[in-house]
Amino acid sequence: MAGLPVRGIKTVVEAIEDGGPGIKVYTLCDPDRWELPPFKPGAHIDIYLPGGLVRTYSLCNDPADDKRYVVAVKREADGRGGSIAFHDGVKAGDTLVVSLPRGGLRIDGAHHVTFVAGGIGVTPFLSAADYLARRGGDFTLHIIARGEPPLAAMLAPHRASGHAIIHDTRVSARPTLDALIDTAPQSAMLACCGPLDMLDAFERATQGWPAERVHVERFVAPALPIDPEARPFQLVLARSQREIEVRLGQSMLDALLKAGIDIPASCCGGICGACRIDWLEGTPVHRDRVLSPAERARSLMACVAGSAEERLVVDL
Ligand code: FES
Repeated sequence: MAGLPVRGIKTVVEAIEDGGPGIKVYTLCDPDRWELPPFKPGAHIDIYLPGGLVRTYSLCNDPADDKRYVVAVKREADGRGGSIAFHDGVKAGDTLVVSLPRGGLRIDGAHHVTFVAGGIGVTPFLSAADYLARRGGDFTLHIIARGEPPLAAMLAPHRASGHAIIHDTRVSARPTLDALIDTAPQSAMLACCGPLDMLDAFERATQGWPAERVHVERFVAPALPIDPEARPFQLVLARSQREIEVRLGQSMLDALLKAGIDIPASCCGGICGACRIDWLEGTPVHRDRVLSPAERARSLMACVAGSAEERLVVDL
């Protein structure tokens, strides 16, 4: 488990509200109510929870709302323990350390954005919906839910404006991903977040779309297939000229942490973006699901990336 982040932000839990069945909405503020570091629509923060767990959550409020970080947490009885630690262990007035916000959706300049969310998968799209609505952007937010959707109060203005469409599977058949994507203009950007089977269907339905206009948001890292080409390598830290061996079967992140180098980490599966570092020489083998091709030309995710050569130089 990673320790507290070097550049962590101390926040206090200002409010805890009901977000629907099994969901709590937490509002985090600076202890003196100063502005918090800015974030992009669809950005995430890591939250350091009681008991030493670190979990990544989407920020749900408008990025223009610079004094609050709002996150929604659904209690998952069969999850990995983060949501239970949150629901049971965090009270209003508590102090929580969080990471700087990172990531976000590349929606600036898009003619239209079609979001498809399954249930609580709507969280990464709420800040983007507020952002687009405020700027007059064109978007449609489809929410597939059984009954009343989660976070109905946050969705209300977007439902009223006609931007958010609820597909209640109790009253009508579940729409196919193909059918929803067919309603999007050809120039649209498409984004999906929800259960794994929905994400798989979305990836199949968008196979013919340009990759830079398709975004899949994952909560749970997919299992990494064994790479038969994987090999041990020397990791060279350019700034200190230290050399660290990354053994076969070991992750670069693990080798760095064992060498005492503090790298933030959360998902350890290449989806959250926490462990991003820049590389300078060599040939990384990227296995993440978070970096774009352009970003990979400069960065790698240390929890999953390998090296195609015996030596890889990183900017540390
Ligand atoms: S820890 Fe999440 S991408 Fe590496």
